[in-house]
Amino acid sequence: MNITVERLPEQELKPLFADPTQLGFGKVFTDYMFTAYYRKGQGWVEPKISKLKALQIDPAAVALHYSQEIFEGLKAYAGPDGRILLFRPEQNARRMYASAERLCMAPVPEELFLQGITDLVNLEKRWIPKAPGTSLYIRPTLIGTGDALGVHPADEYLFYVILTPVAAYYKEGFKPISLYVEEHYIRAAVGGVGNVKTGGNYAASLLAAAKAQEKGFSQVLWLDAKENRYAEEVGSMNMFFVFGRKLVTPNLGGSILPGITRASVLELARSLGYEAEERPIGIDEVIAGLQDGTLTEAFGSGTAAVISPVGSLFYQDQNHVIHGNQVGPVTQQLYDRLVDIQYGRAEDPFGWVR
Ligand code: COI
Repeated sequence: MNITVERLPEQELKPLFADPTQLGFGKVFTDYMFTAYYRKGQGWVEPKISKLKALQIDPAAVALHYSQEIFEGLKAYAGPDGRILLFRPEQNARRMYASAERLCMAPVPEELFLQGITDLVNLEKRWIPKAPGTSLYIRPTLIGTGDALGVHPADEYLFYVILTPVAAYYKEGFKPISLYVEEHYIRAAVGGVGNVKTGGNYAASLLAAAKAQEKGFSQVLWLDAKENRYAEEVGSMNMFFVFGRKLVTPNLGGSILPGITRASVLELARSLGYEAEERPIGIDEVIAGLQDGTLTEAFGSGTAAVISPVGSLFYQDQNHVIHGNQVGPVTQQLYDRLVDIQYGRAEDPFGWVR
């Protein structure tokens, strides 16, 4: 594949953010973006790296009216030897392919996805921050374009990739966050699109999150749509509950996003001698475990969130503190192992980093 590169003159490049630890998440963007178009009868054409700029898109584009939009999230890390490290990018390529099929979109071939990202990140390597806990977040996005308003799949698509140097996702950093167990709104039902990475899932979560934040909580923990009883996920991350040496995470029943960090944590935990179960876990079991002390820790997992300790759950007018609102030893161990592999500081027996 021949990717055209339109380089900018040196004097047009932006200055780097002065203090990477203060980057927050997704506020600063690099100089370039990757774009490619899908056109009916032609397939994927015009792969290009050029200046990051506003898109020109038809106001009738299917993405804008009927939400044919999917995205991914992965990170590039600066390794100790100066190497650029990507964490399981082929998994993101495959998940985006599956998301595209669910939303009747032209899927992005794995090779185009990986080559576009690799070339863009290589060109932008000065933007990979080196401070602890920082990385370059990669946001591949696929949108249905075209110019007709009938409800139908678009016949043209734009695939683009943008980059943002980031620090911790939550303002708390690697500190316990508080979750509000949501009983009124639902995130996704089985048979819907909760298991694919489409913007609508996030739009639908905003009101509940805003109300929870008004009450002082960081995020909501979603329950299942059918019985309002089983823990699902947090939207920005999957959930893990720790019972001593056993980890339990909700199984992927069709309404939960199949997190790549989630899958990695399961493998990592088993390799460290923990038992790790994927099964339905009722909120009553969680609360009972907190009351009798068998549930010892909880944390979320995600690309942006990495591993985020959960310090409390608010359910039915009662706040339940987890591990004294401190980072527990299991959460800490898994976090340390995972980030050491991601940043190339430890051996990678799983072959995740490339
Ligand atoms: C990610 O972890 O990459 C996500 O996409 C979650 C969120 C930032 C939307």
